[in-house]
Amino acid sequence: MALIVQRPLGTADVTPSEINKWYTVEQVAQDTASSFGFKEIRFPTFESTDLFLRSVGETTDVVQKEMYSVMAKESKFTLKPEGTAGTIRAVMQNGMLNDALPQKVFYITPCFRHEKPEAGRLREFHQFGAEMIGSASPAADAEMISMADSLLKSLGLKNIELNINSIGCPSCRAGYHKALRDYFEEKKSDLCDTCLGRLEKNPMRILDCKSPVCSEIAKEAPVISDYLCEECSNHFTQLKEFLDSMNISYKVNPKIVRGLDYYTKTVFEFITTDIGSQGTVCGGGRYDGLIEELGGSYTPALGFAAGIERLIMTMEKQNCDFMEPNKTDIYIVPMGQRAIVNSAVLAGRLREEGYTAEYDLMNRSLKAQMKYANKIGAAFVLVLGDNEIESKTAKLKNMETGSETEIKLDDSFAENFGTVFMASIFEKDEANDIFSDLTK
Ligand code: HAM
Repeated sequence: MALIVQRPLGTADVTPSEINKWYTVEQVAQDTASSFGFKEIRFPTFESTDLFLRSVGETTDVVQKEMYSVMAKESKFTLKPEGTAGTIRAVMQNGMLNDALPQKVFYITPCFRHEKPEAGRLREFHQFGAEMIGSASPAADAEMISMADSLLKSLGLKNIELNINSIGCPSCRAGYHKALRDYFEEKKSDLCDTCLGRLEKNPMRILDCKSPVCSEIAKEAPVISDYLCEECSNHFTQLKEFLDSMNISYKVNPKIVRGLDYYTKTVFEFITTDIGSQGTVCGGGRYDGLIEELGGSYTPALGFAAGIERLIMTMEKQNCDFMEPNKTDIYIVPMGQRAIVNSAVLAGRLREEGYTAEYDLMNRSLKAQMKYANKIGAAFVLVLGDNEIESKTAKLKNMETGSETEIKLDDSFAENFGTVFMASIFEKDEANDIFSDLTK
């Protein structure tokens, strides 16, 4: 087929045959968040560009190279490249900081970054994120990490390494920035143009430059852990103690600095080697200065976000279970115009009782309809012709066993169908039990 307009590079469609994978991740994410006491928040797909300049940071790759921005009349807007900035803006704008703290919110949202597409790296992707606002305690850091860990485990994922680090606060950064400038100054001639600009303004950003030359140079750069002030160092020690007591294994990785400017103290990433070079399935950390930066009073906060596409890719690679797609409980096969109307009425009654009911809308032959019912995996089929309508009885065929049951088409129809349907499930369970006993 010569389709005239294709989908944009770096975007993806989710077809009905794949949607159960998304339902699985979304359901597990919602259940996990809810079990930790988080409530859902929703916020716009686009925000004033200024929000991201102030939060994500002017010297980050995201802001300098990857934002989708438009001028609309006099104002500049940007499609959200991540969820934290919009969440915090919404929490502040809706007066939620005046309510009892901590505020605990989660979101599932599309994000947009103009990156070079590759496996696991899209231009439109989706994040499940969670943010906790109000607690400065390292117990809160441990709680957020434990929530991310619990999500990954509930999805059935294994061998995902938790990397943690502390990138300190503005006071310990001063000394670290000087050490970085001294280090990169000597290698200045090899840095890319963007990093040359970062050298003066924000040398930490050179550490996550994606250019191969800059990342090679960055390998030997000084690490922040050698420059932490006493408070940040104590905070990090306490976090590690919490994680040890909670039996959450981790690796201290001084190279984790994260690609967004708002972070302070704790940063973390969950990394898998199963899906290639874009193996960070979840990343987050503390951002104690962000609310002040956006015009509020000092309020510590922290959070994380997981990429839904990367989670699904890893689940596929590790053969994790996904929810079963919804199946059709009954397919009604009408023979003739009168039967179509009757099928619509019967299907309606069944749907009111919570069953998935379908009937032919293609004027197909009996044989073709039976084939179709088989293809969509219908549990039962009911053939409806003039005889059945006259006699108000029809045969209900169990498509798995082939057995047939006579069923009345009067007011008791939906209830009687329910009885046969439940019995078939019971029989199936029993058969499965016997089978698993025999194969033990
Ligand atoms: P991030 O590390 O930029 O952090 O993104 C979080 C996750 O989104 C990544 O670990 C990855 O799974 C996924 N992701 C990022 N970019 C792409 C992409 N181009 N294609 C596919 N997946 C991607 C944040 O966005 C922070 N807001 C997380 C956070 C919340 N920190 C504190 N609170």
